[in-house]
Amino acid sequence: MQNRSNFSSKIGFVLAASGSAVGLGNIWRFPYLAAKYGGGTFLLIYLILAVTFGFTLMIAEIGLGRKTGLSAIGAFKSLDKRFGFLGFLAALVPVIIFPYYSVIGGWVVKYFAVFISGGVQSAAADDYFTGFISSAGEPIGWFFLFMAFTAIVVLCGVEKGIEKVSKVMMPVLVVLTIIIAAYGLTLDGAMEGVAYYLKPHMSDVSAKTILAAMGQLFYSMSLAMGIMITYGSYMKKDNNLEGSVRQIELFDTGIAFLAGLMIIPAVFAFSGGDRSALSAGPGLMFMTLPKVFASMKFGGAIGTLFFLLVFFAALTSAISLMETIVSVFCDKFGWTRRFSGIFSAVLALIMGIPSSLGFGPLSFISWMGMSVLDIMDFVSNSVLMPIVALFTCIFVGFIIKPKAIADEVKETDGTFKAEKMFNVIIKWVAPIFLVLILVSSVASAFGAFSL
Ligand code: PHE
Repeated sequence: MQNRSNFSSKIGFVLAASGSAVGLGNIWRFPYLAAKYGGGTFLLIYLILAVTFGFTLMIAEIGLGRKTGLSAIGAFKSLDKRFGFLGFLAALVPVIIFPYYSVIGGWVVKYFAVFISGGVQSAAADDYFTGFISSAGEPIGWFFLFMAFTAIVVLCGVEKGIEKVSKVMMPVLVVLTIIIAAYGLTLDGAMEGVAYYLKPHMSDVSAKTILAAMGQLFYSMSLAMGIMITYGSYMKKDNNLEGSVRQIELFDTGIAFLAGLMIIPAVFAFSGGDRSALSAGPGLMFMTLPKVFASMKFGGAIGTLFFLLVFFAALTSAISLMETIVSVFCDKFGWTRRFSGIFSAVLALIMGIPSSLGFGPLSFISWMGMSVLDIMDFVSNSVLMPIVALFTCIFVGFIIKPKAIADEVKETDGTFKAEKMFNVIIKWVAPIFLVLILVSSVASAFGAFSL
């Protein structure tokens, strides 16, 4: 534990943690969920949940990390021996997510390469995406390339690698998002899309809306997978924890909101107001959007900027996943950063290959209609993450007690403004919701019922 590296400044920490939080989830998943679950109502529900639940869990995780100075696997165990299993479960989540996230990262790099070399029309062709992901070698090549970018940054270290890259990429990402959204709003018919996105549609709201918003929140804020614990362990005591968490939330939610403004009006304009075009799920970004770009003036340039932005978002998230795995190996086995880094990269390369091939040569592998990549996503996001989050609440609420975290928050200037809310949510409200999320996501995957 000697010489544990640190983020050099508060802004460095906030940008790196925001880099983790802002990712593919913000850019394609959030807009599509918002469109599906009631537009303005979903936005409002999401916002309320972010400043209550999201805030509480993020405080708990960053607090645990900074208090113990350890990554997930050691943090829980050092505070209570019986909870060693929780650290293990939390550490398992990035090990599962990192490989397939990088497969998708590879697709993004490929699309960037196609757009920048003037291939907007070919990318917009009907079978382009399916043809690409179902081939064997090419997606693996892009996946390896994406992984190489990630590994280089992580191997450069926390301050010289992660912090530096985040300080450049995150501001660029914000600027690009604003430019593209502003351009999209000038298209004919775009305003109808804006209205649809922002106007509350009460009829689309149900219990499921709240659960969908909760699920999205955890994923989007990179909670329940040890990431924020690890990043917290690199945070200095004189950086204000509560203020940092507020800023990360604002960043993450702001980008998600802008991504909606960037995508929904453009898709609306393109499809003549047909809202089903928005529900293409993963295909939205790789199949529908290229068609939208191909149909607009300067579409090649806008598309290039768009995929550059998505690449930055995906890269900073992948970095946080890899860093979390690396820090677990360093803490647990006492390996050097370099060795842990190389080991994690190789492990992830091997694990990612089946996800990449799952749309082509390995497409015969499927479980309840899911491909290998979808299965990985389901196990990590819908099963493991709610379990980890639930136990984290129980751990903080009843084992070490909320005061232990509150004291850590107060370390900087003696204040914790939202302490009362924190106490109530971590002990009572969050656990109940988490059980509901877990039951509903597992049940709906098995087709047993849907709320
Ligand atoms: N928070 C990221 C997003 O919104 C997703 C992510 C999940 C990133 C897990 C890293 C780890 O896309």
